[in-house]
Amino acid sequence: MSGIFTKSMARNIFYGGTTFFFLLFLALTFDTERELPNRDNRAAITPEVAAGKHIWETRNCLGCHTLLGEGAYFAPELGNVYKRRGGDFIKGWMQAMPTGAPGRRQMPQFNLTDEELDQLVAFLKYTSEINTANWPPNIEG
Ligand code: HEC
Repeated sequence: MSGIFTKSMARNIFYGGTTFFFLLFLALTFDTERELPNRDNRAAITPEVAAGKHIWETRNCLGCHTLLGEGAYFAPELGNVYKRRGGDFIKGWMQAMPTGAPGRRQMPQFNLTDEELDQLVAFLKYTSEINTANWPPNIEG
């Protein structure tokens, strides 16, 4: 008897394994769904943050920048720019563009109002507070 691998043994391993991994999959899916609201900090999404995100999307900042790794690699990562430079710097930066400095990549002037700049800063502050498990690892992005 021992040493013979029967069809029913193979079937039991198949069904047992399938059931085990399906239950594991369900448990991990449930855990992810439970954890996500804590990680993306969604309680902090105020109307001002939402308005800032709208500016971010309609001005195509992603065409040059990355946000938490998503986007283009022409200009610096901005997911953590609020922590790197602070809100006043960001507002001043937006108003000072383009620098016209020779040999330096240029960023356009978007002519945002003071209120729009505050909304943009609120959005970038929000992104800087998302729990990304310390990514990017470098404050310079
Ligand atoms: C055409 C490309 C382009 C677009 C579009 C663009 N940027 Fe930039 N941005 C740049 C470049 C290039 C730099 C770096 C310039 C330098 O270092 O002199 C930069 C730098 C910045 C910085 C400073 C980053 C730092 O680490 O100091 C901020 C903040 C910023 N951009 C915000 C924005 C926002 C917000 C938008 C959308 C409203 C935007 N940018 C759209 C090209 C762009």
